Amino acid sequence: MQTVTLNNGVKMPIIGFGVYQVPDAEECENAVYEALMAGYRLIDTAAGYLNEEAVGRAIKRSGIPREELFITTKLWVQDAGYESAKLAFAKSLKKLQLDYLDLYLIHQPFGDYYGAWRAMEELYREGKMKAIGVSNFLPDRLMDLIVHNEIVPALNQIETHPFYQQTETTVFLKEQGVQHQSWAPFAEGRGNMFGNEVLTSIAEKHNKSVAQVVLRWLVQREVVVIPKSVRKERIVENFDIFDFELSADDMEQISTLDTRESLFLSYRDPEVAKMMGNWRVDL
Ligand SMILES: NC(=O)c1ccc[n+]([C@@H]2O[C@H](COP(=O)([O-])OP(=O)(O)OC[C@H]3O[C@@H](n4cnc5c(N)ncnc54)[C@H](OP(=O)(O)O)[C@@H]3O)[C@@H](O)[C@H]2O)c1
Repeated sequence: MQTVTLNNGVKMPIIGFGVYQVPDAEECENAVYEALMAGYRLIDTAAGYLNEEAVGRAIKRSGIPREELFITTKLWVQDAGYESAKLAFAKSLKKLQLDYLDLYLIHQPFGDYYGAWRAMEELYREGKMKAIGVSNFLPDRLMDLIVHNEIVPALNQIETHPFYQQTETTVFLKEQGVQHQSWAPFAEGRGNMFGNEVLTSIAEKHNKSVAQVVLRWLVQREVVVIPKSVRKERIVENFDIFDFELSADDMEQISTLDTRESLFLSYRDPEVAKMMGNWRVDL
C-alpha cells in the first residue's frame, strides 16, 4: 500500500474510500465491507454523513486488525466549540465502535472551530487520535489557525479534481507541512468528467478508465484520494491504479482542464457560511 507521511510521522494510505451521500445503512455497510475486501484500508466518513454506525459495523464484520486500518471522521459545524467537540468526538467513536481514531477533521471552517481545535489538540495528546486536521480551509484561514495554535493540522481535505486542480494550494500546503487530500475526485460526475475528451483519450492510451486516470493523476501529485462508489466493480476499479503511470505529457494535458473554480460552492460566499451555520444534523 502506497502511503504518505503526515507531519507527525504517522503514515496514511494514499488511497481510501469515501462514504458521503450513502445514507442508507445497509448500502453503506456493504459498500465499506466491499472496499475493505478490495484492499482499501482508509475509510473517510463524517458525523454529518449520518453513517458512522454503518461504517463501524462494516469494520467489525471485516475482521481486519484495527492497526491495519486508517479511519477518518469529521466534526460538524454545530459541534464546533471546546466542550461540544469533546462530546461529539465521543459520540462518533462510539458509533464507529472504536477506541481511537486515526484522523479527526474539522469538517467546515465555520463556528467556534478554534475552541474545537483546542479540544482536538488535547484529545490528540491523550492518544485518542493519531492525527488531527481540517477540511475546506482556504489558505488564509489555515494560516490563521496555524499561527494561533500549537499543533499544525496534519491534513486539509478540499475539493480537488481535474476541473478544479488547486495547484497553488498544493504548493502552499506542502510549504506548511499539511497533507493535501482531495474530496470529489470525479466532481461527482459534474462537468461530464467521465465523458471528457482529454481524459478519455489518455484512458484509452493506458487501457484504463477515466476514473482510474483521474485518481492516478492525483496520486502522482501526492494528493490523497477517497473516491466513493456503492458499486462493487467500481470500488475494485478505483483501487486498481498502481500498475500504470501517467507521462509528463499526460499530466500537462490534464492541467489544461483546470477552470480554477469550484463546481460546488465558494468558501468566500457569505451565504455558504450562513447555510452551513444553520445546518443542524441530528446526531
Ligand atoms: N470534506 C468535505 O466537505 C467533503 C465533501 C464531499 C466529499 N467528501 C469526501 O470525499 C469523498 C468522495 O467525494 P464524493 O463522494 O463527493 O464524489 P466523487 O468520489 O467525486 O464521485 C462519486 C460519484 O462517482 C460515481 N463513480 C464512482 N466511481 C466511478 C467509476 N469508476 N466510474 C463511473 N462513476 C463512478 C459514483 O457513483 P456510484 O456510487 O453509483 O458508483 C458517485 O456518483 C466523499 O465520499 C467524502 O468521503 C468530503
